[in-house]
Amino acid sequence: MKGLILSGGKGTRMRPITHTAAKQLLPVANKPILFYGIEAIVDAGIKEIGIIISPETGPAVRTAVGNGDRWGIKIEYILQEEPLGLAHAVKTARPFLKDDTFVMYLGDNLIKDGVAPLVKRFEESHVDAFILLREVSNPSAFGVAHLGSDGRIICLEEKPAKPKSNLALVGVYLFNKNIHTAIDEIKPSKRGELEITDAIQKLIEKNFHVGSHVLQSWWLDTGKKDDMLEANRVVLDEMHDVSMLGAVSEDSKLSGRVHVGKGTVIKGCTIRGPAMIGDNCLIEHSYVGPFTSIGDQTKVSYAELEYCIVRENCQIIDLHGRIEDSLLGANVEITRGQQKPVAYRLMLGDDSKVEVV
Ligand code: G1P
Repeated sequence: MKGLILSGGKGTRMRPITHTAAKQLLPVANKPILFYGIEAIVDAGIKEIGIIISPETGPAVRTAVGNGDRWGIKIEYILQEEPLGLAHAVKTARPFLKDDTFVMYLGDNLIKDGVAPLVKRFEESHVDAFILLREVSNPSAFGVAHLGSDGRIICLEEKPAKPKSNLALVGVYLFNKNIHTAIDEIKPSKRGELEITDAIQKLIEKNFHVGSHVLQSWWLDTGKKDDMLEANRVVLDEMHDVSMLGAVSEDSKLSGRVHVGKGTVIKGCTIRGPAMIGDNCLIEHSYVGPFTSIGDQTKVSYAELEYCIVRENCQIIDLHGRIEDSLLGANVEITRGQQKPVAYRLMLGDDSKVEVV
């Protein structure tokens, strides 16, 4: 069995962060989201992974992920020139996939229980495809499954205006080679994409066996800022092994699970976990509240942060106020100005969002 991870797309809902970074490389608990998918596939015993990349963010993904050596596996990159849909990505990956079975994983999805139990179910049930479903409150934003009273799938629809159920397709799928013939038989959807949902529907119409499992544990699709913060919360909440690799002064108070990276100095702070602070940071005279992660080389001084993702090389200095529910990209500076008149002085990239009080 092979792994196919989709890491293309433009990440338009995460601008401006995604003007300069691939959304799949944004950190959750200081680790790129994409790495969670790779590790879930590696944990399932799969040794060959193909990663679909786009011309825009492909080079950054390659640099961050490498050739797979660090996980003891082989990683190949497959360029999808244009974002023409998930089924189009599978078509593009055909020379890599050959006729092998494969798990397809959307690079911005996170699921609690990983991939190993699904691979086992797929293999034991001898189905042609296996999909995961999860109850959601906004099914129109997803692929939706309609199940019969016996639990079998009756039909699947991509982003229906009038969904027949609240069961969304999760971005982790298992297939055998029959998916390729189904993909050859579908047409682009209204949004102009070859939808994997339509290809699976085609399998059902052709009387192939499609198994499903309704997830009870969490699933996160990290398409927007609030989803990222929620993913960060969930992962930090489940982080059990924390290390204290930095230096913490006696007048600092750390409570709960707080990871402190090497070379980091913490002085005169209150830090309430779960929280994760990267390497070579300086955090002084500040409060860092639960569900916050701070990237490497960041400086926080006389500031308060809670429920935030702060990336590497940021400077948050002399704020005298609290930042909450926020996502800061790399190299962001927030400081207190000395100039008169007193005013906000901003240099914000296209599509930035700032809320002032
Ligand atoms: C894609 C699929 C959709 C699925 C979702 C899961 O949507 O088309 O069926 O429910 O991933 O994350 P997209 O991310 O293209 O909006």
